[in-house]
Amino acid sequence: MDTIATVLSGIRATGRLHFGNYIGAVRHFVTHQQQGNRCMYFIADLHTLTTLRNPEELRGNVIEIVKDYLAAGLNPEGSIIYAQSSVPEISELSLLLSMVQPLGELERIPTFKDLVRKNPDNVTLGLVTYPVLMAADILGPQATLVPVGEDQIPNLELARNMARRFNERFGQTFALPEMLEEMVKVPGLDGEKMGKSEADNAIDINSSIEIIRKRYLERGITDPQRLRASDPGDPYNRCRSIYPLHEIITPGEANGREIAKACIAAHIGCVECKKRLVDNIAVILEPFQEHRAALANQNDYAREVLHEGGKRARRIIKETVERVRDKMGIVMY
Ligand code: TRP
Repeated sequence: MDTIATVLSGIRATGRLHFGNYIGAVRHFVTHQQQGNRCMYFIADLHTLTTLRNPEELRGNVIEIVKDYLAAGLNPEGSIIYAQSSVPEISELSLLLSMVQPLGELERIPTFKDLVRKNPDNVTLGLVTYPVLMAADILGPQATLVPVGEDQIPNLELARNMARRFNERFGQTFALPEMLEEMVKVPGLDGEKMGKSEADNAIDINSSIEIIRKRYLERGITDPQRLRASDPGDPYNRCRSIYPLHEIITPGEANGREIAKACIAAHIGCVECKKRLVDNIAVILEPFQEHRAALANQNDYAREVLHEGGKRARRIIKETVERVRDKMGIVMY
């Protein structure tokens, strides 16, 4: 890449991070940081308010997630780590953008329709304008690269359209953010996306490896039609939890297919396959857990990181918001 990218991504503080977040998102955040990009990683605490209504829990989650970020290898020198709400200019930008955003487009977004269907009694104004706030998150710092998961594509499309439309109407103001669909869907124990809904299907990144092993051995879903280890398995179509995760985390598996071939040939049984998977999870999690344990009591440090990150993010975002105000005719008297 000839110019440095501004990489930006956010995570909602609905709970503690699980292995799916780590593998699907945070691990990539670290790679972008190592490549010397300008990296901005924030905790979308305002977005969290669309579903979490417990103030203590929200405050706690934010601090724990920062510690997870740091333990994973993000650091305040290489990345700007901040809380969305510590940059009030983001909320201001969201309000300004909402003035030119047609409502119909927001109501047509699949994630919105989905949430309305699941919870018709909780359709707040904040839920409708969720993508506008998300656009402000992205456009405020002039992000050029936004790693997202599949479910966020419509929101990112909308942010791109908003940028395009604003630029056309008011003159070049926002960089057009590229999406980087690298955040793969990590399957949970039951084969559904890890961490989704009420299903107890996630792996806590701070569980001991023994507990993780036990959870996989007892609950990890494999090929249901493979009753004996001597039956040939179908890792690609019928194994919904174990094999798909091997493909993501087991070195060489995505290309070499060694485990898949052994499963199809019935050379390896499901128990052995699960054990190998957990061994590979351990290789990833052990260094993380060691670092994370050292940060366990460092809440003040985590707050300090957010404070400094917030100041840096503000300086950057403020510039954009001042330009937007000016273009729209808003004056600070
Ligand atoms: N909506 C995203 C999610 O639920 C979180 C998020 C908020 C985000 N603002 C963002 C992601 C800006 C990328 C860029 O996962």
